[in-house]
This record gives sequence, C-alpha cells and structure tokens, in this order.
Amino acid sequence: MTITVEEIKALVQPHAVHKRVYTDQSIFDLEIERIFNKTWIFVAHESQLRNPGDFVRARIGTQDYIATRGEQGEINVIQNRCTHRGATVCHEPHGNTKRFVCGYHQWMFDLGGTLRGLPHRQSYPDTFVPESEQYALKKAPRVAEYRGFIFASLSATGPDLETFLGPMLVAIDNLVDRSPVGKIELVQTAFRLEYKGNWKMHHENANDTIHPGVVHNSSVQTARQHGPESTSFDFGQTREMLQGNGFSKKEWEGIEQVAVPGGHSYMDGIYRNGLLARKEVDPVRDAYEDAMIKAYGIERTRSILDLDRFNNLIYPNININAQYHQLRIVHPVAPDRTLVISHCFKLVGAPDEIFHRAIRFLTNLGSPASMIYGDDATIFERCNVGLRSSGEDTWVDMQRGVGLERPLPNGSTISAATEAPIRSQFHAWLDYMTAGDQS
Ligand code: FES
Ligand SMILES: [Fe+2]
Repeated sequence: MTITVEEIKALVQPHAVHKRVYTDQSIFDLEIERIFNKTWIFVAHESQLRNPGDFVRARIGTQDYIATRGEQGEINVIQNRCTHRGATVCHEPHGNTKRFVCGYHQWMFDLGGTLRGLPHRQSYPDTFVPESEQYALKKAPRVAEYRGFIFASLSATGPDLETFLGPMLVAIDNLVDRSPVGKIELVQTAFRLEYKGNWKMHHENANDTIHPGVVHNSSVQTARQHGPESTSFDFGQTREMLQGNGFSKKEWEGIEQVAVPGGHSYMDGIYRNGLLARKEVDPVRDAYEDAMIKAYGIERTRSILDLDRFNNLIYPNININAQYHQLRIVHPVAPDRTLVISHCFKLVGAPDEIFHRAIRFLTNLGSPASMIYGDDATIFERCNVGLRSSGEDTWVDMQRGVGLERPLPNGSTISAATEAPIRSQFHAWLDYMTAGDQS
C-alpha cells in the first residue's frame, strides 16, 4: 500500500498524532525505510572490537548486521545474510573469528564480507567471480565513530555523524570523560527485553516527567515503607532508585526537558537535589573524585561530574545515562513489538565500586525482574491494546505545556513538565518521513 506525503502529513497535527503512527504496518515499513535506513544507527562500541577478528551482532532497523574489526584494523559493518540463498551466517552475539561460514552450503566470507571460498567451485560458470562485490555480504555505505561509539548509516548521503548528533555529542563526551583515563568499556552481557508496543512509545516515555509518579507508584510506595536497612546489601541504592520516581510535583517541575532538533532530547537537573543528589559521606565517591582530580584538575573535574543530564535520547535508537554509565538500544521489530537492549559501561581507572553501582543501576532498571521497567512495558502494552482496538477517529494527545517551551540559541527548546520532547520527536519524524520527493 502506497502512502502519499499528504497522507503522512495529515497524521501529525501540532498537538496530536493519529493512532495509525503506532499501529499501521505500512507506516512502520516506511519508518524503517525513511528513518532507520537513512539516519545514523549505533552498532557497536570500540571496546567490543579491540582486536582484528572481533565481531558483534547489530541491527539496523529490522535488518541483521555484523560489526567487525578487520585484519588491517578497519571497522566493517556487513549484513548478516548469505549471498547464496539468504541464510544468516553469524549466530553468536559477539566473538572473534577469521571467517563467517554459512551453515547451509558453507560459503565462507572474510571480516570485510568478501566471499573467500565455497564448495564445488569447479561447477560454477566462468562468469561467477566469488570475490566480486555481487557475492560479498552487503556493507553499510557509511560507518563513523565518535569517541568509541560506532554508528552506521545505510544511506550513502546525508549529514555526517557529528552534525547528526549535534548537541548530543556532549552526552557521549561526558560519559567518556567520566573515566579518569578517558576510556570506557562496554559490558558485553546485556539485558534483552521485548515489549508489545510501538518503538516510539519508549522514546516518548524517556523524558516524560509526569509519568514516573503515576506509573511507578507501586514501587515508590514499597520503597518508602522500608527503612535504609532493607537494602543495606547494596548500600540502599535500589531503594533510593525506586523512591526517586516518587519526586514531588514541585521536584519534577524543577527538572528541565531539553528538546533538540532531530528528535533528540534529555532531562537536566535530576541528580541536583534531594534523594538522588551526591551524599555528604561517600568514601567510594571521594576516591573516584580524587582519581578524577589527579587526572583532570579540580575545575575540569567539577565541570565533568556536575553535568547533570539524564536520559539522553539520540533519536531514533539509543539512550545514554552518563552518570551511571548506561546505554539502552531500542530496535523496532514490528508496529506492536520493540526490542530493548540494556548495557552498562565500566569506567577504566575508576574504583571497582563505581562499576558495581553501574551494574546495580542496570539491574534495577533494565532487567526482566526490574520493578521499574516492568511498569513502563505494561503501560506501552496498554497503549498498544487501546489504540489497536479503537476506531479510525482516534488521536493521541501531546499538548501538555504547549507554548511553555523557551528557545535556546542552538535551536533546542527548554521546558518543564511538558510534552515538548514528544512534539519535537514528531517534528523530526515528519521531516524524515516526508523528506525529498517521495509522494
Ligand atoms: S545459503 Fe549460505 S551457503 Fe547456501
Ligand atoms: Fe518510567
């Protein structure tokens, strides 16, 4: 089914979007083609590809890819699809190899995707040239890295990576700078969860400051009923994280939401005051700050550690938390199915306990047993059920705080307790979906 540009435009009003953007298969297919196959998509962190032969599986939109470190040290992003009859050739999430050998008829591909061998070569016609591009695993046309974060684009043209990231470069800088030696390592083991809902719901929820006090109320109440000794095994971290969602209305209003052109966004000020602020007595933090000051000096250390941006959404597929060294990757699977992969990083040169805090944060927020994530996934599923079962005259509202956004010099807007980041995401969505002459 072909959708015209005019039809797409009609789905997004200034303060509401039509339910089809969450439920319609043809819209979803267009999103893959015009957003995920056009923008820069995070595929790997350099710490996963240290040595020649290292590889890690990745996804771009709905396609399976492999990021590899080649023999000459180059990075390749190649499609995980055999050029013989289409079987996937790599089934491990990560590892080290010299060749990807297809398990169907044993075609063998090198780390750059070139076909290097196949059985019964003599029975092929002279016109068959195995090393030709025709038989190579398809390469992503553009691959770029920013401070260890490797992105790929299936489009040969478009803005370069740094232009695409714009003000979100700061989120990556800040995460890497939090290591006293400027080096971070992605923990390969990750939580992989699927929810029954549209991929955009995850992003719309990320910087929605009204929902936590409602959606996560049950875990807030549970945490409040128990004293500090109840989670002394983790120095109270779990309890504080759960309680953190129970900020008062005034506290949430003090958190700024910054909506960045391109659909990106982040929150500012969540760790500044109250429960989640730095503790007065914290020997682990003191040791970490000492290491930072030794490396960077006091002024630079303060500017790194005091940067208080939370849930840095890099539209359309990752979310970074620099303070707790977290990375969340969001993959669309179907209009009503989304895969979320949650990792944490180790800051090289920081005390071990800082890493343990990152792991606990990851477990509290990203594991299947998370008391927080399950709430969000349940709400996404409820939205999915509600929207799918409703009529064609159904619109999804996003007008909270309309007109309250204040412009920033770089084209972003700042506001509090609004749905401005959602409106900004749909602004970008519409730009991507209607770019060029595609009617
Ligand atoms: S499908 Fe891969 S070798 Fe035949
Ligand atoms: Fe939430």
